[in-house]
Amino acid sequence: MPAQQSKSADVRTALKQGIHLLREAHVPSDTLAAELLLLHVTHRDRTWLYAHPEEILDPQTIESYFSLLRRRAAGEPTQHLTGKQEFWGLEFEVTPDVLIPRPETEHLIEVALDRLAVRELRHGRDPKLTGEGLTIADIGTGSGCIAAALAKELPAAIIYATDISPAALAVAQRNATRIGFSDHIAFLKSSLLDSFSPLATRHSPLLFDLVISNPPYIGRKETSTLPIEVRDHEPATALYGGEEGYELYCQLILQAARHLRSGGLLVLELGHDSLPAVRPLLDTPKWTNVHVTNDLAGIPRVLSAERT
Ligand SMILES: C[S@@+](CC[C@H](N)C(=O)[O-])C[C@H]1O[C@@H](n2cnc3c(N)ncnc32)[C@H](O)[C@@H]1O
Repeated sequence: MPAQQSKSADVRTALKQGIHLLREAHVPSDTLAAELLLLHVTHRDRTWLYAHPEEILDPQTIESYFSLLRRRAAGEPTQHLTGKQEFWGLEFEVTPDVLIPRPETEHLIEVALDRLAVRELRHGRDPKLTGEGLTIADIGTGSGCIAAALAKELPAAIIYATDISPAALAVAQRNATRIGFSDHIAFLKSSLLDSFSPLATRHSPLLFDLVISNPPYIGRKETSTLPIEVRDHEPATALYGGEEGYELYCQLILQAARHLRSGGLLVLELGHDSLPAVRPLLDTPKWTNVHVTNDLAGIPRVLSAERT
């Protein structure tokens, strides 16, 4: 039976109808999506939702809720409807101009922090980092989620964040300002690390301790296999790395080798099948201590290496 939109309903009924409508449309994570949309229109939190199942929702709230449910059922991502996504315990504004931050990208932050701490231990220093003396570049910052997570963990670090998309940089800048990190992160429009070359003169080279990136890595040839939420609603510049997908890694790794100081770290997110094409790019004397870290699904997700 198709889900009916009531004129007014209690919270429990509205939630059940929402889940039913999304399930009929084969929306993944239907319960979570219905909950998030109901929380969004009621401006409440999850505790309230389950503590007040009998509360009657007014017709206007029900109307807004069903309007969002129908857009979700038609393929719009939940995060575009609510305008936000959590990453590393921080809330980020998301718009169709930026990639929606993914949970697996948090592995990049973990690997970067672990490897920076190990570096301190190797030098006989306290592994508890504040970021003092560290200069970091986040390449392809999108919503700014990686730069902001690092600013949270390494408040004394100097962080540069680049993107080729001015619209994405505007979102990242707003996120940094709202979260309170705008003084810690400098945003630059740049293709990969291009904008840093003129800044690095022979007398004062701009060298990084960490270059970190979640570059676009989906192959254009995979377009038809992507879920509609991704293919039709997330920006192509954030998704596609080229026909195969791994094309941007080569230039990114070459540029990172030029811009990292000796002992500096490169931390890259990998696509689900990028490893065989990308790992060999680090088989040069410029790189050592190359590690691959799997995500929770067992997919090789993070490639990290140290500049010799
Ligand atoms: C996969 S998204 C990652 C966004 C964000 N860092 C995250 O992890 O959610 C890739 C980002 O790289 C940007 N981008 C694409 N090509 C680029 C290039 N040549 N130079 C710099 N940024 C680029 C896109 O605009 C997009 O914001």
